[in-house]
Amino acid sequence: MMIRKIQEIQSLHYDLLQSADPDHRLVTEYVKRGVCFEVILNEQIVGILVLLPTRPETLEIINIAVSDHYQGQGIGETMIHFALDHAKQNHYKTVEIGTGSTSLGQLYLYQKCGFRMSGIDRDFFVRHYKDEIVENKLILKDMVRLSQDV
Ligand code: ACO
Ligand code: ACO
Repeated sequence: MMIRKIQEIQSLHYDLLQSADPDHRLVTEYVKRGVCFEVILNEQIVGILVLLPTRPETLEIINIAVSDHYQGQGIGETMIHFALDHAKQNHYKTVEIGTGSTSLGQLYLYQKCGFRMSGIDRDFFVRHYKDEIVENKLILKDMVRLSQDV
């Protein structure tokens, strides 16, 4: 498995980006400002990671996704540790990540990787997404913000 910087975002990358974030306009905007990495396994693109500097000394994992067929094999966890190492090497102090309150598996994964909850952005998904999102049989409304110092 190899993680490398993406030179140019292609449609295969967009499919993955969209599985983590359905808002095409937002995604297009932050991939331009952030640093994008792809995970290559068996000569295929199986994962994506977008890191965005948000405030001084703070880096956000703004998008992380693994293709369906390769999920549950530790690739997501490896990408999060890669992001934490990248942040440390580039002298960031804090790494943040945000996810839906209904994303129960993702909340488990991020806490397993050392993130702690830092806040709730109530109605974030109601305000920013025009189509209703349903996950784990719940309507998604609130964004959970998590962070950790590196
Ligand atoms: N549901 C339940 N459990 C999960 C989930 C999930 N969605 N994701 C990870 N886990 C658990 C795994 O079961 C595993 O548990 P274990 O430690 O007991 O073995 C642990 O977390 C580590 O999982 P990995 O195999 O490393 O995770 P994976 O490679 O599947 O990647 C990811 C996780 C990126 C969330 C993947 O499921 C995915 O692409 N999902 C769709 C897109 C998405 O939701 N992206 C995140 C949106 S938020 C954001 O982008 C900032
Ligand atoms: N883990 C996963 N899913 C759960 C859990 C759980 N611990 N508890 C409930 N659910 C889900 C059920 O799967 C069900 O899902 P569905 O709607 O898809 O069918 C739904 O929630 C409703 O479940 P019930 O069968 O009504 O819940 P149950 O009778 O099991 O009672 C309770 C839930 C009280 C949390 C029970 O699991 C329990 O006593 N747990 C140990 C004590 C505990 O944790 N209490 C809460 C602490 S917080 C507090 O007291 C304020």
